[in-house]
Amino acid sequence: MAELGLNIDHVATLREARYRGWKRGLKPEPGVLEAARVAERAGVDAITVHLREDRRHIQDADVRAIAREISIPLNLEMAASLPMVAKARLYRPEEVCLVPENRQEVTTEGGLEVAADLRRLTGIIAKLHRAKIEVSAFIDADLAQVEAAHEAGAQTVELHTGGYANTTTLRARKQELTRHERAAALANKLGLRVNAGHGLHYENVRQYIEAVPYLHTLNIGHAIISRAVFVGLAQAVGEMQILIGGPQPVPNAD
Ligand code: PXP
Repeated sequence: MAELGLNIDHVATLREARYRGWKRGLKPEPGVLEAARVAERAGVDAITVHLREDRRHIQDADVRAIAREISIPLNLEMAASLPMVAKARLYRPEEVCLVPENRQEVTTEGGLEVAADLRRLTGIIAKLHRAKIEVSAFIDADLAQVEAAHEAGAQTVELHTGGYANTTTLRARKQELTRHERAAALANKLGLRVNAGHGLHYENVRQYIEAVPYLHTLNIGHAIISRAVFVGLAQAVGEMQILIGGPQPVPNAD
């Protein structure tokens, strides 16, 4: 059984859509710390947030509060840069997941190019280890990248499942699953922990976990936050109706 890491970035996306740059004294909603607490009570194994360099959703204060207030591990996704290493040292998450970052992208598009940037990434990972923070590298399911992540000193690889999620034919899907199966097997052989995430949802996750071995944690965000809207919408409407005078009685058919 794989563990579940809930990515709550999109709770912050919703908040920022209304409260970007909010003033002290207001109560911006939905609350990101509140989401982390609800998820913890619901039994998720870890909370994931991505502190992007452009701060488009998660803010520094969110990371600080979650790191302080929740007792399950915090997995902080961040760019592999010295300013972000300083942030990690400050907030002390249990784990950092190094991701590539491009300001124009809607979401993380590809895996980290560890093989092409080995020396620099080895230095960044060593700094995080000195701060006693575990390091995961978000990579494509590519054997050279798995080897490079190991060589750079990462303890975990997170396999980028976006390519799998975006396949439109059975054949392409099978090819992706084979790539992931091989990457996971190599990572396990090298002593790396294997996580996976990006684009996993209620309809594609079972096939993925049945095909790919050694999975430790699945990091899933968008699908769960999207589902939560519909699981909760009827109740939210009902609560507002009560506040404004109760639901209208159904007219008598007679
Ligand atoms: N893992 C990583 C490294 C990511 O960047 C993301 C997206 O922020 C996720 C997992 C979760 O992806 P999704 O929101 O599509 O489930």
